[in-house]
Amino acid sequence: MSAITITGGKPLHGSVRVQGSKNSVLPILAATILCGGPCEIHNCPGLLDVDTSVRILRHLGCEAARAPAGTVAADTAGMGRFDIPESLMREMRSSVVFLGAILSRAGEAVMSQPGGCDLGPRPIDLHIAALRQMGAEIREEGGFLYCKAPKLTGCDIHLSFPSVGATENIMLAAARADGTTRVFNAAKEPEIEDLQAFLNAMGGRVTGAGSSTVIIEGVGQLSGAGHAVIPDRIAAATLLTAAASAGGDVEVTGTRPEDLATVMSVLEKAGCGITQNGDAVRLRRDGALRPMGRVRTMPHPGFPTDAQAPVMAAACRAEGVTMFSERIFESRYGHVGELLRMGADIQVDGHVAVVRGVPKLYGAGVCATDLRGGAALAVAALGAEGETELTGLQHIDRGYERFAEVLASLGAEIKRR
Ligand code: EPZ
Repeated sequence: MSAITITGGKPLHGSVRVQGSKNSVLPILAATILCGGPCEIHNCPGLLDVDTSVRILRHLGCEAARAPAGTVAADTAGMGRFDIPESLMREMRSSVVFLGAILSRAGEAVMSQPGGCDLGPRPIDLHIAALRQMGAEIREEGGFLYCKAPKLTGCDIHLSFPSVGATENIMLAAARADGTTRVFNAAKEPEIEDLQAFLNAMGGRVTGAGSSTVIIEGVGQLSGAGHAVIPDRIAAATLLTAAASAGGDVEVTGTRPEDLATVMSVLEKAGCGITQNGDAVRLRRDGALRPMGRVRTMPHPGFPTDAQAPVMAAACRAEGVTMFSERIFESRYGHVGELLRMGADIQVDGHVAVVRGVPKLYGAGVCATDLRGGAALAVAALGAEGETELTGLQHIDRGYERFAEVLASLGAEIKRR
């Protein structure tokens, strides 16, 4: 069993470049299916989830490989199947974004319900309703989806919640559909803008990403293209919270600071000094951490749910009370039980977690229960007294490239075995 050991209490110093965005690269790899030609996707992070996407492409009969230096080359000309095996579907939630792309290219698709982090029930009803509205026939039976759509037709889709995955699936299904699709109450996350950029690089006609209305004019044909994935705002936020927790002076380069605005403002409230210089964000913290008030997760541009756990880990040692309110997922406090083992004082009541800062956290044996919750345990361990042994690394490897090495490069006493 792999484990990371962290000896806390050592401030972090130095500069590190952030990885490419996990949540951008996954729908973009699915989008390569639409063009049936060669694509090169640059700035791809080395993650289990990227490997899973490459395996899905290969299973479908496409050529796909991760080259060194963060490029995935995919040629989807040879796609000859339209099913995804359950084993691959269970590995990550975003396997579901292959649905819109496969349906558009092959006219049918078969897959099981997706897996992914356990954050409470994660239905895909909005994806299915939207695809049905575009003309797909979808039968749900025994945990599988059997979908047929000889023709997808553009239409107006009103999402009852700005779901990231549903917005992406609609964009993928609509890019080559007959007519124009308008998505109202669309997700506004930066990853939606990145998908729009890639679809347009392939010859698509998509506008509005980043606003609440995305308009996709279907085009008959798309062609292969190259694209560089945007920086990972959650990996950057995690590194900044690590520096806030351990103390020190850390610069994260290659970011889009505007995507980090809400996280930076919470960390500033905690007493961290934050400066920006081009694509670099620098965080300095030498005094005690102050409480952060009320942190409410919201769809973009609100505070991201994916940063809730790492920020909470830093808040555990603030001089006062921070209140978290999780508004996106039903159950995203899996890390709390593990933080309690390290001496944190947190009370959860439904969607609310009240964190009373304690003077010290102590190293302990802890286990990641999900991706961001796992990273949060490392963030807490960096500011704790003594040694923490962190297991459950398969969750962290899904979303953080060379996690332990990156922190070690900043001076953390951290080892993976
Ligand atoms: C994406 O998940 C991200 N994953 C998540 O990141 C992120 O937490 C989430 O967006 C919110 O920002 C990827 O991009 C691969 P949603 P997604 O559809 O698309 C409900 C991480 O740690 N909902 O916006 O699954 C749903 O249950 C991950 O990197 C429905 O009810 O998120 C949830 O409560 C975890 N029906 C809320 O909407 C639907 O059909 C938000 O889900 C779809 C969603």
